[in-house]
Amino acid sequence: MPTNAAVRTVLVPAAGLGTRMLPATKAVPKELLTLVDRPIIQYGVEEAVQSGVRRVVLVTNPGNTLTASHFAPAPALEAELAARGKPDLLADVRALTALADVATVHQPEPLGLGHAVLCGRDAVGDAPFAVMLPDDIIDADPPALRQMLDIFAEYGGPVLLVERVPHDAVHRYGIIAAEPIRHGVYRVTDLVEKPAAADAPSDLAIIGRYVLTPDLFPTLAATERGAGGEIQLTDGLRQLLRSRPIYACALNGTRLDAGNRSGFLKATIHFASKQPALAADLRETLDSIPVPAAGA
Ligand code: G1P
Repeated sequence: MPTNAAVRTVLVPAAGLGTRMLPATKAVPKELLTLVDRPIIQYGVEEAVQSGVRRVVLVTNPGNTLTASHFAPAPALEAELAARGKPDLLADVRALTALADVATVHQPEPLGLGHAVLCGRDAVGDAPFAVMLPDDIIDADPPALRQMLDIFAEYGGPVLLVERVPHDAVHRYGIIAAEPIRHGVYRVTDLVEKPAAADAPSDLAIIGRYVLTPDLFPTLAATERGAGGEIQLTDGLRQLLRSRPIYACALNGTRLDAGNRSGFLKATIHFASKQPALAADLRETLDSIPVPAAGA
């Protein structure tokens, strides 16, 4: 395999329990929660497509048929929209089917992100691939994944997307130690999953986008359970670092973490305020909310 072969597949791990968003996620998978006018997962799929990657492999739990159906034809709905003379809505619904080539693989048990990626092994084959965590929604131009693919094409090794986070938040992320190569590009020297602040090698957090090479799979298959009792992608990458260079790319854009209540709210406001039809109303509503007096 040429190390700079084109990336054609993105794996989207979507088998988490969504515990931070319960009870909203009791029956609805969290990647289907609606952010303004589309489910969370659609933002990621659109980013992949805009980055030139059209093959999307969802990694879901075996009971989840809803997530893939968002991208599948809906003949009854389409016929009804046609009969009611709603060509714009019909076009929107059909565009979702044409958007990407969506397949699903199952993760039988929620054993961690590394395990979810391993479940995509056969679907990926012997080719480089991307991993996109749908909770991390990134608003960037060019799209975040495109920025990373350009670095992958240049250096021919795995690329992780990173962003500086407050020191008291490092325990929520995979953190890298790195040497800068040039503005916004690093060579990774170590990685650690969810370190205590005192042990973190830096404030550079991995944020939900990876461009990876298939030699990761045997390494991941041999990776033991780590932080939280789960098979961690970060631990697999740490092992892989012994045999090949890994790079990181600083995010040039805005990341929104839609996987928790406050981040979901911020993401909603961020994307609503970009839609002319909603922005003015939203501004008026926000301005009319009284700010509680200090100490109240
Ligand atoms: C996962 C990864 C972590 C990464 C984070 C980004 O953690 O394990 O390395 O920094 O996503 O969102 P999770 O948020 O699933 O606990």
